Amino acid sequence: MNRRYRKTIIAGNWKMNKTLTETKAFAEEFKPLLNRPRWCDVVLCVPFVNLQAAIRLFKDSKVSIAAENCHYESSGAYTGEVSAEMLKDIGVKYVIIGHSERRQYYNETDFTVNKKVRAALDAGLRPIICVGESLEQRELGVTMELIAYQVKCALSGVSAEKVRHVVFAYEPIWAIGTGKTATSQEAQDVCEFIRSIIRKLYGARVARAVTIQYGGSMNPKNAFELLGQPDVDGGLIGGASLKPDQFMEIINAANQD
Ligand code: PGA
Repeated sequence: MNRRYRKTIIAGNWKMNKTLTETKAFAEEFKPLLNRPRWCDVVLCVPFVNLQAAIRLFKDSKVSIAAENCHYESSGAYTGEVSAEMLKDIGVKYVIIGHSERRQYYNETDFTVNKKVRAALDAGLRPIICVGESLEQRELGVTMELIAYQVKCALSGVSAEKVRHVVFAYEPIWAIGTGKTATSQEAQDVCEFIRSIIRKLYGARVARAVTIQYGGSMNPKNAFELLGQPDVDGGLIGGASLKPDQFMEIINAANQD
């Protein structure tokens, strides 16, 4: 973390979890835990159907609500899809773009990621762009080449003005939902590398202002060390964000000196 230049953001990614009833129960338990002053921003990424309820439930709590995906067109004949404008209009602040599960199961490509990033920014949403390598790619030694490619594709056509609103999440696929975490040094190396790509594209001032998270089995035990790395500016947390007390422990780890 480097709070001087950029915000630390702790985001929970609920994926396809929690009914409306469960969302209400989470809010009831979680909100009273949020009473201490915090340096980090807190975001909850929830399924589309529960966005409006979550926005209402967390209205006075400074928790921002995020969607987990959006379409790249603003409207049209795309049955079952939701546009960035629609999300913005109901009060959504962030949207996850290019999560590895969407790349793996729903044909999300670097090309569609780029279109969605631009659509989100045009609508006034902050995209949380996920990048990361598979175990095979890490073992082949092509992690950095792949990350550079994903970052450059995602940001193609994005102005320096707009890139300040972008958040990156480095999520090694082999660490997602597996209980296997990247070491804090591995996380730092890739997050630092992502910043170096942004620096090449937009200059040092822009690069140092961009929040870059780590994601992949982050939990109350490993959060403190991961978040202590200079280029790890927060976390995108799946499993551990489903339990209010665990998520709160990670938020507290982001409040370290
Ligand atoms: P995990 O998920 O924390 O359960 O590994 C992270 C993510 O997929 O964003």
